[in-house]
Amino acid sequence: MAKPMTFTCTACGAAANKWSGRCEACGDWNTIVEEAPLSAGPARKSLGAQRGTAIRLSDLATEEAPPPRTGSGIAELDRVLGGGLVPASAILVGGDPGIGKSTLLLQAAASFARKGLKSLYISGEEASAQIRMRAQRLGLADAPVKLATETNLRNILTTLESEAPDLVIIDSIQTMWADNVESAPGSVSQVRASAHELTTFAKRKGTSVVLVGHVTKDGQIAGPRVVEHMVDTVLYFEGERGHQFRILRAVKNRFGPADEIGVFEMTGNGLAEVLNPSALFLSERDAPAPGSVVFAGIEGTRPLLVEFQALVAASPHSQPRRTVVGWDGGRLAMILAVLESRCGIPFTGLDVYLNVAGGMKITEPAADLAVATALLSAREDAAIPADTVVFGEISLSGALRPVGQTENRLKEAGKLGFTTAIAPARSKTGGGAGLALKPMGDLAQVVGEIFGAG
Ligand SMILES: Nc1ncnc2c1ncn2[C@@H]1O[C@H](COP(=O)(O)OP(=O)(O)O)[C@@H](O)[C@H]1O
Ligand SMILES: [Mg+2]
Ligand SMILES: [Zn+2]
Repeated sequence: MAKPMTFTCTACGAAANKWSGRCEACGDWNTIVEEAPLSAGPARKSLGAQRGTAIRLSDLATEEAPPPRTGSGIAELDRVLGGGLVPASAILVGGDPGIGKSTLLLQAAASFARKGLKSLYISGEEASAQIRMRAQRLGLADAPVKLATETNLRNILTTLESEAPDLVIIDSIQTMWADNVESAPGSVSQVRASAHELTTFAKRKGTSVVLVGHVTKDGQIAGPRVVEHMVDTVLYFEGERGHQFRILRAVKNRFGPADEIGVFEMTGNGLAEVLNPSALFLSERDAPAPGSVVFAGIEGTRPLLVEFQALVAASPHSQPRRTVVGWDGGRLAMILAVLESRCGIPFTGLDVYLNVAGGMKITEPAADLAVATALLSAREDAAIPADTVVFGEISLSGALRPVGQTENRLKEAGKLGFTTAIAPARSKTGGGAGLALKPMGDLAQVVGEIFGAG
């Protein structure tokens, strides 16, 4: 007889049959823990042994109205949700401890309550008095939100059953405890079981359920990825402690576009919406410095200008450093290789640091050209003019590929006072943005244009 699996990854939930330092499924370190398997217990009877109820089938052409949504009035939140809150949806909000999840969701609960949704906030982490103090500080003390502190899932479900709210916030899923599962709160089995019960309740009763999940690094508590596939919408709340910006990012959304972001600023009165994030992200820019390049990006459906900063210096190490914050390290290596082999600009013996200002994370390949330009600018110690934005994808041959939404990028840049865009030739523009486009065929041409070399 096969031995039961008793090891689980707290980061992704994968099962393993022995302990190891690194999870084979997700690659995280020190996340494998010993845990009772979820399917423990007497062998189940085959499902075929007992008749079920025949299910109703429908045509593909059946017309169904789009889900009715409720807006919170917080535009940055509503956009990330795909245009408001969908009834009976299950939403996961993940993020580092202290990033502002409880603050955001108390504000959200209050806003939805003021729009007429019956809203419940259940905390397993903080005392009611603490939450009331936060509500007072945020100016939300009079919002019609019902509050409870509880971790027993059975009690919570009983309460939800009789209260039948439109919206319930569970803060956090890692503190919930289902008494029919034999493991500690925060374990993979508990988090899974709790999330399953709550999402099932959402579908059955039409309640929107928001699960808060802490991102954990130490592998003692299951992380939010364990429940990602059980919910309709996965949002991550990101930011750096030292920065006041917070980004709410949709990484999965059954009811709207993924990749959509909402930008907030953490203030003494809670999270304030940032309606013009480009202006905010560029606000700390000084006079044009070598290595600094403004990238005209798109996040979800909205254009966003951010600054890439590169530093290139002679390395004292035999293995030069490649340090990246806010951009993909593998992609940086690729761009360095293209610069070296297609443009003859070597980076051997040089340390390379690349940073996205403001704590923003960029994943668009359209930022390739901005990165390459920042690297060149830093290496040659030549500043890019302050009125110039850059975007475009770089292929391994060194050719530049046009990217989507060129017109939107140009418009946003124009709004913020930029006059010139370095972009791939063949970029589709409507010509209405009022920016001078410098079309570039390949990376070597960019090198020549900016530095008179090539
Ligand atoms: N009294 C306060 N005044 C101003 N800011 C506060 C106060 N209390 C907490 N904060 C800020 O709110 C942040 C977010 O807290 P919280 O919403 O509880 O985060 P999370 O739920 O993600 O752990 C804290 O890190 C802190 O910066
Ligand atoms: Mg919290
Ligand atoms: Zn894993």
